[in-house]
Amino acid sequence: MNPLKPIQVGLLGIGTVGGGTFQVLQRNQAEIRRRAGRGIQISMVADLDVERARAIVGPEVTVVNDARQVIANPDIDIVIELIGGYGIARTLVLEAIAAGKHVVTANKALLAVHGTEIFHAASEKGVVVAFEAAVAGGIPIIKALREGLSANRIEWIAGIINGTTNFILSEMRSKGLDFASVLKEAQRLGYAEADPTFDIEGVDAAHKATIMSALAFGIPVQFDKAFVEGISALQAADIRYAEKLGYRIKLLGITKRREDGIELRVHPTLVPADRLIANVEGAMNAVVVQADAVGTTLYYGKGAGAEPTASAVVADLVDITRLHTADPDHRVPHLAFQRGAMHDTPVLPIDAVVTAFYLRLQVADKAGVLADITRILAQNKISIDAVLQRESAEGEQQTDLIILTHDTVEGRMTAALAQMQALPTVLAPIVRIRKEELN
Ligand code: HSE
Repeated sequence: MNPLKPIQVGLLGIGTVGGGTFQVLQRNQAEIRRRAGRGIQISMVADLDVERARAIVGPEVTVVNDARQVIANPDIDIVIELIGGYGIARTLVLEAIAAGKHVVTANKALLAVHGTEIFHAASEKGVVVAFEAAVAGGIPIIKALREGLSANRIEWIAGIINGTTNFILSEMRSKGLDFASVLKEAQRLGYAEADPTFDIEGVDAAHKATIMSALAFGIPVQFDKAFVEGISALQAADIRYAEKLGYRIKLLGITKRREDGIELRVHPTLVPADRLIANVEGAMNAVVVQADAVGTTLYYGKGAGAEPTASAVVADLVDITRLHTADPDHRVPHLAFQRGAMHDTPVLPIDAVVTAFYLRLQVADKAGVLADITRILAQNKISIDAVLQRESAEGEQQTDLIILTHDTVEGRMTAALAQMQALPTVLAPIVRIRKEELN
């Protein structure tokens, strides 16, 4: 191989991130060559919209509308997959691997669901599948988990890993608005997709949390075992009550090592307002990692956007370029742990998760109501941390009762909630939001 010849890259899908990748590679080519040891050149692009693609990359890059022409090109060393989704992207990634290409992808959905198959195929073929852009966009969290923290026993990770939902929650809190009106505004401003389901229902965050759990604990990617609850049912009243009690509500992706298994969950979460992560606002992302030697580390930055995501894609290209000629057995393992050293530690069902709770009960304002509720909690061995009762207006017959609990097993809370809900003095469905102290 001529060491001066740039490594040749084929790009599948040139939308926002693909365009950003092309720009960053061009703009910083001299610096990138100094880092990588040789040039990195996108020489072929496949996109259904050939005209738009050509307008972005100019006349020197071959543009085709068939991704398979890129994969079949023997001059291409690395294929970047930016198509997204689990369908054709999976087929093309597996075909690229079979053709002996290294693959760079930002596709969290693909890896969270089909990662085991894809990493196995890549290892068998001796090629790399790199995916820094798949979690928290421009934040190098994959690199941190896989390499920077490799001395540590990682205990837990909690992250704001979806910018759309963090933007919505920030707006709900600062403007006192309800979910539906903020979502509409976010869509108008382009912060939320026309179909925002994956973001607002927590699926995107769960894809990313799944990938982080595999990297942190050396377990297979198991998206189907993740517990996923989004923010679409969150009410402005709960954001206000949480704030009164010294908490903010964030959509967190959490994965934790427990003696009996791994917790893997995404849900709205009360976090003490003085934690750094509670103050991550707007579309920004942040990930906290708790590990035994280093203690707590925090990674903050842009989780989406053309150039922030391109930053991660290009970093993967540099890594692959440096290691292109290395013995595959001496490369950094895809999921941080050596292939033969992965564990099948179970992912725990949500009922076995240990967490604290925020409860809001709409109750009749009369003697004995609080006593009934605290008795049910006590019978289920759930310890109360704080209670807040809304002041009733003159003549009002009902009130809101807010209860914070200490840590408990979720299954016990579910049982207690069913008993409390059956009380005739509980007048509406009880709101339950999980709470994490993150200390
Ligand atoms: N839609 C994601 C977000 C970015 O809102 O953070 C890509 O995963």
